[in-house]
Amino acid sequence: MMLRLLTAGESHGQAVTGILEGMPAGVPISKAIIDHHLARRQKGYGRGGRMKIEKDQIQVLSGLRGGLTLGSPISFMIPNKDYENWKEGMDPFQGDLNYKKVSHPRPGHADLPGALKYSFSDMRHVLERSSARETTARVAAGSIASQLLSVFGIEVASHVRRIGQAAIEQKQVEFHELKASEDSPVRSVCKDAERRMIQCIDEAREDGDTLGGVIEIQVKGLPVGLGSYTHWDRKLDGKLAGALMSIQGIKAVEVGDGFEGVKEPGSCVHDEIFYNETNGFNRKTNHAGGIEGGMTNGEILIIRCGMKPIPTLMKPLKTVDFHSKDVHNAAVERSDTCAVPAAAVVAEAVVGLTLTDAFLETFGADSMEEMKRRWK
Ligand SMILES: Cc1cc2nc3c(=O)[nH]c(=O)nc-3n(C[C@H](O)[C@H](O)[C@H](O)COP(=O)(O)O)c2cc1C
Repeated sequence: MMLRLLTAGESHGQAVTGILEGMPAGVPISKAIIDHHLARRQKGYGRGGRMKIEKDQIQVLSGLRGGLTLGSPISFMIPNKDYENWKEGMDPFQGDLNYKKVSHPRPGHADLPGALKYSFSDMRHVLERSSARETTARVAAGSIASQLLSVFGIEVASHVRRIGQAAIEQKQVEFHELKASEDSPVRSVCKDAERRMIQCIDEAREDGDTLGGVIEIQVKGLPVGLGSYTHWDRKLDGKLAGALMSIQGIKAVEVGDGFEGVKEPGSCVHDEIFYNETNGFNRKTNHAGGIEGGMTNGEILIIRCGMKPIPTLMKPLKTVDFHSKDVHNAAVERSDTCAVPAAAVVAEAVVGLTLTDAFLETFGADSMEEMKRRWK
């Protein structure tokens, strides 16, 4: 592994922090771009009250000078404004351990297995760290990594294909169409689907319920041969699936035609190979989604992931009290009704991190100058 990311921070602690190690020296990094992606993560129709409190902006503590990477670890933090409201319980030394205790584990959350695993009697300890607030650090780091990719003309984008029962009908969305998702509160490129998605979210919210959905990430400009077929742990599709699965709430990942493709015969699924002087080897279709044998094949990378409905319900599910074992309603924390559009921004970030790691494996060097020579 060339690029390593360590994240830390509790949801209502002082800050979310991260250390990104392995970036070469001399990569131009813009704070405005990082903050732009942090703001995109905060948006999306269906989010709860927390995002109204926060205004996420990165503070870089090391590893950059004058907007250029130094090759040293990049450490950064994104302060939690909400900490001021939670100090009494969350202060690292003075925090009151009886503050907002949680003893009614929410089905679908880390609450119960986390408490049993770490021998906690208060599930607040679990939910503070299992919370998707952590993804703020991954979006910041992903944006730093993707700024290296963009020097080489590689672009990562996403859109939302489904929220609950509302889905875009268009089977294939072209890379250039993804731009339209930026103007949509649900990151849909289709106005009709957008309207139906918003309606589904409104209905779920009224019912005290939640929704999941399907995200698609596409990457343009990748060279042939990132990743490798030579060993299982070097396969790029495996690494991407692992990274996407690690996002809170993601329960399914597919590459290219994925689950749809398994219904068809091989003649309809594999992309025939052509050659001409101008384009070299090329395909007329991209059912494979840009990966064959664990390597990029030069086509656009297409990956989808499925997010389950948010597990905190305002009309709570049944659970049992951790101590008395009596039947109870699950804990209700302030929460999103649907976070699929935000998860799409997180998915872009983890894909950016994984591809930068693969890119550094093939073209990596100590400095950007040397990398450009290798790339050439
Ligand atoms: C951007 C984003 C926002 C989320 N917001 C919430 C939320 O407000 N409430 C909640 O219960 N879960 C939320 N989740 C999902 C949970 O964090 C996740 O389901 C939980 O940690 C259990 O992990 P698992 O679903 O991966 O097993 C969110 C996930 C993401 C990616």
